Amino acid sequence: MDEKFDLADMPGNFGIAHVRWPSTGIASKINAHPHLDENDTIAVVHNGTLKNYDELKGELIAEGFKFKSTTDTEVISHLIRKYMNEGFDLEHAFRKTIERLEGSYAIVVISKEENNKIFATRYQSPLKIGISDDAYFVSSDIPAIINYTRQIILPAEGEMIILDENGVRVHDENDNELEKEIVLIPWTAQMAEKGDYPYYMIKEILKQPDAVEFTLGERDNIQKIIDDLGKIKNICFVACGTSYHASLTGKYLIQHLAKIKTDVVLASEFKYTADTLDEDTLVVFISQSGETLDSMNALRIAKETSPTLAIVNNIGSSMTEEAKYTIITQAGPEKGVTATKTYIAQLTAIYLFAGLLAKDYELVDRLYNVPDYIREVLDKSKEIEILSQRYSFADDLFYLGRGFSYPIALEGALKLKEISLIHAEGYASGELKHGPLALINYTIPVIVILPPGSDYEDTMVNLEEVKARKAIILSVCAEGDAKGECKSRDVITINPKVDEILAPLVYTVPLQLLAYYVTLEKGHNPDKPENLAKVITV
Ligand code: G6P
Repeated sequence: MDEKFDLADMPGNFGIAHVRWPSTGIASKINAHPHLDENDTIAVVHNGTLKNYDELKGELIAEGFKFKSTTDTEVISHLIRKYMNEGFDLEHAFRKTIERLEGSYAIVVISKEENNKIFATRYQSPLKIGISDDAYFVSSDIPAIINYTRQIILPAEGEMIILDENGVRVHDENDNELEKEIVLIPWTAQMAEKGDYPYYMIKEILKQPDAVEFTLGERDNIQKIIDDLGKIKNICFVACGTSYHASLTGKYLIQHLAKIKTDVVLASEFKYTADTLDEDTLVVFISQSGETLDSMNALRIAKETSPTLAIVNNIGSSMTEEAKYTIITQAGPEKGVTATKTYIAQLTAIYLFAGLLAKDYELVDRLYNVPDYIREVLDKSKEIEILSQRYSFADDLFYLGRGFSYPIALEGALKLKEISLIHAEGYASGELKHGPLALINYTIPVIVILPPGSDYEDTMVNLEEVKARKAIILSVCAEGDAKGECKSRDVITINPKVDEILAPLVYTVPLQLLAYYVTLEKGHNPDKPENLAKVITV
């Protein structure tokens, strides 16, 4: 965009926009939404992917329609035009268009011919309606509109939303008007504002003690779910990205505490596991947004055979509608693209779930100290900021951890690469010698996660291996760990009461701060990493 518009300065009282690049076709102005028909009277924004757009485009071109872009979305505006040319009004031309579409979509349409009306519908892509005293909103995500309203309607797939001067109406597929419930989202506008913080990411990192405290409030709800589940033979976690790392911690915890066999599957790879599910397997979906398409697709398959539990942060998201059980993590809205407080809140819910499932009430009680342990880490922000100057020069970094610290290493590396754009790899520390050790030399920083516990000595052996190859070692270890401190060039120390089992909830935090400060050092915006989106619904 060459020009930036302030909504308040724009004429008119209704409009549509799309704030991300198209998923089909290159990122270019011509491919950016909205997409118009040939008369420039119908405008469409679309989230999702149309599988049959090539076929529809061929048909429309044969009928004489001229395309400007290489996106899938443009077929929608031309199809609506085609049906309006045949005599349908906008709503019914839109309905006829939808009948032709295969794939996923949330679509919003306006037309000059029917001024002051907005039509919208969804299928396998999220869409929410917001209602405030002086405006209506249609959005793919609640955090996007929470500054304006907390009153939300959740349209089901196939429903038609009509916004005009008479208000909002929702029709079913047969044109019948539906009575929709208005849900009050317990988030405030202030929670979604940056306030005095320079970036959302740092605000969200600093709010993590609250995210843990509030999520611990879900204990009774989690206990009820466990009681209702009865006996479970197996557990299978399904997730993507950061949520996958939370799931991996869940596997280690549940197997260690409850001795229940637990798998972790990337949602995009789920189809190779789906056939092994049965009614004795609890399938747990972890997702900040509750909307990620890969996870949603897996959930739709899993619920056919197995009980399903969604652990999500976004109230009213699609996963909460589809899963049998839901745990809402209480992190509040997260605006930074990279997940921080929602991750720690996911972990808190998983620790509660695992602890209560295993009846390990000692562990559950220890969780109530976690907010203070995190606060102690946050007090070291300045120290980590200074350290970041040393580590921002690197082209490649390794993060090593063993056992419960392995997912910490994965998450630390993911944070760094997502926002600083420096290549980083998280590795199980014992696995390093089976290949990547060959890469280690004096130019490569290695971050070693070294909490006290049964894995400490083995991890120390791995630290020695990389030290022998002259790697620059930054250890995250317990205060008073003399060995860890003397073997490393730099250290970040953590309260020694945090052992390896609690480590994921606390040791992750300095790595988030390191990623944040290295990113600032590199001159990038930590809230908006290039080419990444907060929610991947395509
Ligand atoms: C995207 C985001 C990641 C996130 C992943 C899973 O790729 O950029 O930060 O971890 O989606 O998102 P979810 O909402 O399902 O946790």
